[in-house]
Amino acid sequence: MGLSPFSLGEGSTPLVRATRLSAELGCELHLKCDGLNPTGSFKDRGMVLAVERAHAAGAHAVVCASTGNTAASAAAYAARAGLEAVVLTPAGATAGPKRAQARAVGARVIEVRGTFDDALRLCRELGQREGFVLVNSLNPDRVEGQKSIAAELIDQLGRVPDIVALPFGGGGNVSAVAAGFADLGAAPRLIVGEAAERPTTWASAIRIGEPAHAEHVATLVGSARVEVLSLSEHELADAWQAVARTEGVFCEPASAAGVAALKRVGSLDGLVAVAILTGHGLKDPDAVADGAQEVVEPTVEAVLAVLG
Ligand code: F0G
Repeated sequence: MGLSPFSLGEGSTPLVRATRLSAELGCELHLKCDGLNPTGSFKDRGMVLAVERAHAAGAHAVVCASTGNTAASAAAYAARAGLEAVVLTPAGATAGPKRAQARAVGARVIEVRGTFDDALRLCRELGQREGFVLVNSLNPDRVEGQKSIAAELIDQLGRVPDIVALPFGGGGNVSAVAAGFADLGAAPRLIVGEAAERPTTWASAIRIGEPAHAEHVATLVGSARVEVLSLSEHELADAWQAVARTEGVFCEPASAAGVAALKRVGSLDGLVAVAILTGHGLKDPDAVADGAQEVVEPTVEAVLAVLG
C-alpha cells in the first residue's frame, strides 16, 4: 500500500520496554504507544484508508458514531480530503478534548440524547443515504488499515510476541489485530480486556453496551485465538495508574484494559507480551484527580512546608 495522499503520518508508534511492570508481571512486557498517532489514538491507522476510499468513491461526507476518538480521527482526515465529517456522540458522555479535536478541524459534532449504541444505529442509517459513507469499524477499510499494527510490532520486536493484549470495546480492533497476525502466518495469544460494566464504565472510550463485532469476536474465542476478560472498574483504574506511575506512560483510561487483562491472567513467566495502549492520556485529562494541586506563596520555605 502506497502512502495515502491524506496521510498525517500514522503508524510507526514507539514500542517501549516496560521494565518495572515486567518485574511485577513476571514477563517481558512492552507497551505499544498507539496514542502517539496523529490524532492521539490507534483509529488513525484505519481511518486514513477509509477516508481515502470514501473520497475516491465520490462521497460528500463521512459519518460516524463515537465515544470520541473515532470522531477526532474521522474529522481530521475528512478535513484533508475536503469532505464533510458528521459525528454523533452520546450526549454528556465523551471527553471534552476529543470533541474539541473534531470541532477544531471543522466537523459537525452532534450530541445525541442516548447511548453510543443509539448513535451507531442512527449512523448506520445515515450511511445508507446518497453521498454519505459510514466510517465506523463496520466499514471494512477501517479494519484493513488497522491490521498494520501486526507487522509493525513484529518488526520492532524482532519476533512474534507470545501475547498481545488490548482493549475490547466494539471489537473492531480485536478483529483487525487477529486478522493482521493471521495474514502474516503468526498466532500470538490475544488477550483482550472489556469493561464488565460496559454501558457505564469510567473508561468512557469503551462505554459500549452492544459491541458491533461481538459475533466475530465470539468466533475468534471459539477457535481459541482470543481470550476475553471482563474487568472490574477497579482493575481498569489500577492498571491505568500502574502504567502511568511505574512506566511514566500516560494513556487514557480505556487504553490500559489490555494491561489489566494481563494482570488478571497471571502465570506469564518468561513470556514476551505486548500491550497495545490505544489512546493518549491527554485525551481525557479529567480522569486524573485534581486533588493534589497545591498553591503556595513564592518562597522556598512554603514549598518545603508543603512537601513535608
Ligand atoms: N481504546 C480506545 C482509546 C478507544 O477509543 C476505543 C474505541 C477502543 C479502545 C476500543 O476499540 O471499539 O475497536 O474495540 N473507541 C471508539 C470511538 C468506540 O468511538 O472512538 P474497539
